[in-house]
Amino acid sequence: MEQRFFSGSGINRNKEMLEHLQRYGVIKSKKAAEIMETIDRALFVPDGTPPYVDSPMQIGYNATISAPHMHAMCLELLEDYLKPGMHALDVGSGTGYLTACFAVMVGPQGRAVGVEHIPELGEFSIKNIKKSAAAPLLEGGSLLIHVGDGRQGWPEFAPYDAIHVGAAAPEIPPALIEQLKPGGRLVIPVGNIFQDLKVVDKNMDGTLSVQSETSVRYVPLTSREAQLRGY
Ligand SMILES: C[S@@+](CC[C@H](N)C(=O)[O-])C[C@H]1O[C@@H](n2cnc3c(N)ncnc32)[C@H](O)[C@@H]1O
Repeated sequence: MEQRFFSGSGINRNKEMLEHLQRYGVIKSKKAAEIMETIDRALFVPDGTPPYVDSPMQIGYNATISAPHMHAMCLELLEDYLKPGMHALDVGSGTGYLTACFAVMVGPQGRAVGVEHIPELGEFSIKNIKKSAAAPLLEGGSLLIHVGDGRQGWPEFAPYDAIHVGAAAPEIPPALIEQLKPGGRLVIPVGNIFQDLKVVDKNMDGTLSVQSETSVRYVPLTSREAQLRGY
């Protein structure tokens, strides 16, 4: 998340940010670009925050909105698991940006569930989503934001084809493995100071294949209390 592909300070349109991400080879998939064009990042950052800079930005409560290149990477890694009708879980949904992207991808017959443990961020994400192209999905009930400890997943709509975790876990929470569908994929940053973005595929026989995609730096997946006191 520390790496930056372009500054973006002179960029004032979502489309222009995407053109940069494509030019620098960060987004290769057409679908990921299309979805990031549909969901305007400017609707998900606090007032006064430059929306198109390729960097994580503070959103309060010791949390950040992830950098555009990380959103792009996670969408690409999960694209095949976010087809219409599929179920997606976004743990540590923060601003709601990726949950909104997932909801548009899986469509009204699918299900996109965000779990965030800071109630104020849960409210903020709902406000953001209501301004975005994902608003009808929130109204229709296929996009849901819940306040809770995401380390427990959200069993109600399990199993999930796609699970994304937006904060770094010391180890992969067993509940998330349990709630992953055979044939499904989990993308999760794992580690403390040094973190790897892990791609966990659940094979049809229930065994796991795990690969490290890249080194990353995320805020920790932790308890609400630890986060509010600064970890
Ligand atoms: C990097 S931030 C937000 C990521 C989100 N994808 C975005 O771009 O807006 C990670 C989020 O995880 C949340 N979080 C941390 N630990 C959590 C837990 N145990 N359960 C649920 N949410 C958690 C934080 O409050 C924060 O909003």
